[in-house]
Order: sequence, then structure tokens, then C-alpha cells
Amino acid sequence: MRICLLFLFIFALPLPSLAKKRADPETAYVKMLALTEMRQSLAATLDNRTGLVINEDVFKQTCGKVGQELQTWAAANYVRVRQASDRFRNPANAASEKDMRMIELFRSDPKLDRQMDGKKLYVRIPVVQSCLHCHGEKNARPDFIKIKYPQDKAFGYKPGDLRGVYSVSF
Ligand code: HEC
Repeated sequence: MRICLLFLFIFALPLPSLAKKRADPETAYVKMLALTEMRQSLAATLDNRTGLVINEDVFKQTCGKVGQELQTWAAANYVRVRQASDRFRNPANAASEKDMRMIELFRSDPKLDRQMDGKKLYVRIPVVQSCLHCHGEKNARPDFIKIKYPQDKAFGYKPGDLRGVYSVSF
């Protein structure tokens, strides 16, 4: 009897974690805000670092880390997430027509932070000063960006600009 119970206990343990639980819009919104904060504080580690060469490894520890965390979170929470921009660096992040309408809406209303559109949640991605290490003046971009992204449009931003949107599909 005791052994039976033990088996029951052991096999029942993983069950709750197997039940697919999709993130809801509120949870997703909170996560997007946390990622925005994470990106800003990682980018701020590059401030006042004279002599630091910003290369691809530095990118992977800052902006790139956020992109990775975003996809890991999306997979674990059964949603699809994109970072969409009209002035994109990676062509895979080019805004669709629908994204464009949202981008225009966010630009026209600086207080708007999130917007549902059917089964999609859109969340603002703002530019802060530290982003300009890599998204600032065209000629001041780190060399690896000039080489790796010949079609780059993600430069010339100013603090307070809209960089793009997270779009979460449920
Ligand atoms: C160390 C350089 C670096 C810094 C600092 C940086 N970025 Fe980026 N960012 C990049 C690169 C390189 C890409 C292209 C990534 C790829 O290939 O998918 C990118 C892509 C993005 C994208 C995806 C859309 C696109 O254009 O492809 C967003 C959104 C973004 N950055 C926002 C920010 C914000 C907001 C900040 C400041 C908080 C920031 N980045 C700081 C280098 C940087």
C-alpha cells in the first residue's frame, strides 16, 4: 500500500507542469515591461566606458540577450512574440501592415503603452539614451553593425522615440 502511494506520488508530480498554460495578456504585458527595463539597464552598462569596443559579443550581452529571453519566454508560455519596427535592423523584424497601423497609433499618442488588437497584444518599445550606443548616429554605429547589417534602418534615434513594438499573439 505504501509503495503504491509512493508510485502515485512520483508519477503525479510532473502532471501539472505538462498541462499547457498559455500566458494571458496581463502576464504578457508585465513580462514585456520587464524586458524593456532589462534592456535599458543592460544598455546602461555601456555608458561612460571609454575605450570599450562594442562588438557582437557586447551585443549578445545587451540587446541580443533581451531578444533571446523574449523567445525563451514565448516558447515556455505558448505564445508567439515579435519585435516589429518600421526602422528595423534585422529584416526579420520588419513591421507588417497591421504592425504599421499600431506603430502609428503609438507614435500619435505618447501616453499609450499597450493596445490589444483581436488576439494580439502590442506593447511600446521606447528609446532611451543608452540605446544610442548602437542605435544613434549612422556614422557612429559600431563597426560590426555597419558590416553585418548593410540594409540597417535602426539608427538616428533620439531618447523618447518609439523604437518599435512587441507583438504577442495568443
Ligand atoms: C550593443 C549594441 C546595441 C544596443 C546597446 C542596443 N541595441 Fe537594439 N539592436 C542591436 C542589434 C545588432 C540589433 C539587430 C539584432 C538582430 O539581428 O536581430 C538590434 C535590434 C533591436 C530591436 C529589434 C528590431 C530591429 O530593428 O531589428 C529592437 C526593438 C531594439 N534593438 C531595441 C533596442 C533598445 C530599446 C535599446 C536600448 C534600451 C537597444 N536596442 C540597445 C544592437 C544594440
